[in-house]
Amino acid sequence: MTGAVTDTMDRPLRDLRISLTDRCNFRCAYCMPKALFGANHAFMPRSELLTFEEITRVAGVFTGLGVRKLRLTGGEPLIRRDIEDLVAMLAGVDGVEDISLTTNASLLTLDKARALKAAGLNRITVSLDGIDDATFQAMNDVGFPVAKVLEGIANAERAGLAPIKINMVVQRGINDHDIVPMAEHFRGTPHIVRFIEYMDVGNSNGWRLDQVLPSREVVERVGAHWPIEPVARNYRGEVAERYRYTDGAGEIGMISSVTQPFCGDCSRARLSAEGKLFTCLFASAGHDIRDRLRAGASDESLTEYLQGIWSRRADRYSELRTHETKPVDTRKIEMSYIGG
Ligand code: GTP
Ligand code: 5AD
Ligand code: SF4
Ligand code: SF4
Repeated sequence: MTGAVTDTMDRPLRDLRISLTDRCNFRCAYCMPKALFGANHAFMPRSELLTFEEITRVAGVFTGLGVRKLRLTGGEPLIRRDIEDLVAMLAGVDGVEDISLTTNASLLTLDKARALKAAGLNRITVSLDGIDDATFQAMNDVGFPVAKVLEGIANAERAGLAPIKINMVVQRGINDHDIVPMAEHFRGTPHIVRFIEYMDVGNSNGWRLDQVLPSREVVERVGAHWPIEPVARNYRGEVAERYRYTDGAGEIGMISSVTQPFCGDCSRARLSAEGKLFTCLFASAGHDIRDRLRAGASDESLTEYLQGIWSRRADRYSELRTHETKPVDTRKIEMSYIGG
């Protein structure tokens, strides 16, 4: 494993991830296990959520600080009603160059995909942890079939939301048998499958290092079927290492946050649905933006506040975990709360 300790000060703020809800219609065991997210689970009340106007205002302050990319996430962001209205509002914010959406695609009808595209959404990333139906249905734990996700992906393609990325979180012994079939299914399409090392996000997934299948093994397994070669990254801070099939059948990616952490280039801030700002996926506490907004803070004072937070940021959780090869003992936020 690599474990270089990188300079945490030289990291520009480029990317804002906005969670729209902590709810999801799936119950993936590694994210929202049924035992903890059942009928009695207290999700955020609607009144606690940032309004679309508030989100747009915060995005405007962030673009003033250098943010160019926005990603809408969740929970499942398509659960939030009229999300295309928010996309249209964000598309109008000065400085925004790219708006993307991370979704399980279960609610992505053709009409919805077209409405999102018309509003200014550029592209989507779909979470799909297997192409084998039995495996996927067991993983999402609500019996949701692969075919319906593929339908959502097809709708996005028809609406012109591209490139489409497909995220597969790989867990050894759970879905690693589906790595090659997954690659095979999307070979020859313009879609980019990314294989993600299973991380110890949140406190509820009981993560152990032996459940992680290193990307290196994914490269070997896929490469044994179809030769692949590395491709240069698209931009500083890109989390996926890119590979292409040498026969021209497309591209895949490896996200190796456990075996090769990328904290040194981390340019991402995360805003929860209730308006807390997190400077790391593994943070235990956020900074309250909503209270400031609702107390009438000016853009100038918000800018100063956010700049102060970013300039003091020393996060490098994945690097620390790699050194210790076990979860670092902190109380972390859940992935369903803050999004991928
Ligand atoms: P683009 O390059 O803009 O398409 O997106 P991306 O690859 O940065 O975003 P995406 O949200 O699809 O990230 C894919 C996965 O990488 C996430 O689901 C996480 O598992 C992981 N990941 C993304 N950002 C971080 C990060 O800041 N830290 C860690 N440790 N993992 C991350
Ligand atoms: N490890 C790695 N990625 C995860 N995601 C959720 N939980 C984990 C985890 N434990 C990612 C998935 C999903 C996105 C919302 O978050 O890629 O697509
Ligand atoms: Fe929902 Fe995505 Fe979490 Fe699965 S991983 S429960 S689809 S938010
Ligand atoms: Fe960034 Fe934290 Fe992920 Fe490191 S662990 S890349 S600092 S979000």
